[in-house]
Amino acid sequence: MKRLQLDDQTRVLVLTGAGVSAESGVPTFRGMNGLWEGHQVEEVASPEGFAADPELVWRFYSLRRDGASKVQPNPGHHALARLEAALGERFLLVTQNVDGLHARAGSRRMLAIHGELFQSRCEQCAQPFADAHTYFARPLPTCATCGRAIRPHIVWFGEMLDPAHLEQVYRFIDEAGPKLVFLAIGTSGQVYPASGLVDAAHAVGGKTWLIDAAPSEGYAARFDELVIGKSGEVLPPLFFGP
Ligand SMILES: NC(=O)c1ccc[n+]([C@@H]2O[C@H](COP(=O)([O-])OP(=O)(O)OC[C@H]3O[C@@H](n4cnc5c(N)ncnc54)[C@H](O)[C@@H]3O)[C@@H](O)[C@H]2O)c1
Ligand SMILES: [Zn+2]
Repeated sequence: MKRLQLDDQTRVLVLTGAGVSAESGVPTFRGMNGLWEGHQVEEVASPEGFAADPELVWRFYSLRRDGASKVQPNPGHHALARLEAALGERFLLVTQNVDGLHARAGSRRMLAIHGELFQSRCEQCAQPFADAHTYFARPLPTCATCGRAIRPHIVWFGEMLDPAHLEQVYRFIDEAGPKLVFLAIGTSGQVYPASGLVDAAHAVGGKTWLIDAAPSEGYAARFDELVIGKSGEVLPPLFFGP
């Protein structure tokens, strides 16, 4: 069993994807076959889809809020929180997951680059706020200030990531240089720019690991090390030994 070797100079950047939450019972994107109740996922996760049918989009995210509120973080989430506690500012977690499970497991040095399921924002005023409500039918929520629609605080297909998040990630990579260890966990590497972080890590001389139950071939070829397994089973011994 491989073991991650860290000295007191090592900086660890972790990218997680839907696979990390699979053992908690949250379906992965590929697990949904790219379809939701016969709709292309793009229809319920794009600004065009929201403009065309906000009720459908809110129903989709309301079901996901219901689902995510009933599940618990698994040993993979807990292992990452424990690694953060050991490394402090030499650790940064970048997650593509919106389910909130990393935070519930205790992760704090974390950027949710694809948004947060339990936040909403006005499409005009843009300031996100905590929101666990579900909307399965009209009336849909509107902004008390400007009257425009309230939408899920999710980065949809075709939308940009928060530039402040990206800046923080690239600053962490640059400051780490060859002391960087980059771990991608439970992600298929199909969504840019998250999928490009492995190349950024190599560019500064860092080491890269992919940990995935069923790695995507093309993505796996871009890493130095490959660990095949479920994150809840392989992360605790990888970080802390048997
Ligand atoms: N939990 C969530 O918040 C959630 C769920 C579905 C989709 N999404 C969104 O959809 C997009 C999908 O991209 P993605 O790369 O994150 O997901 P993906 O569905 O494309 O890939 C998931 C990866 O996880 C692996 N996997 C499955 N079970 C695993 C396990 N137990 N342990 C380790 N690996 C496992 C799969 O082999 C696959 O490579 C992202 O943008 C994300 O924001 C988020
Ligand atoms: Zn507003």
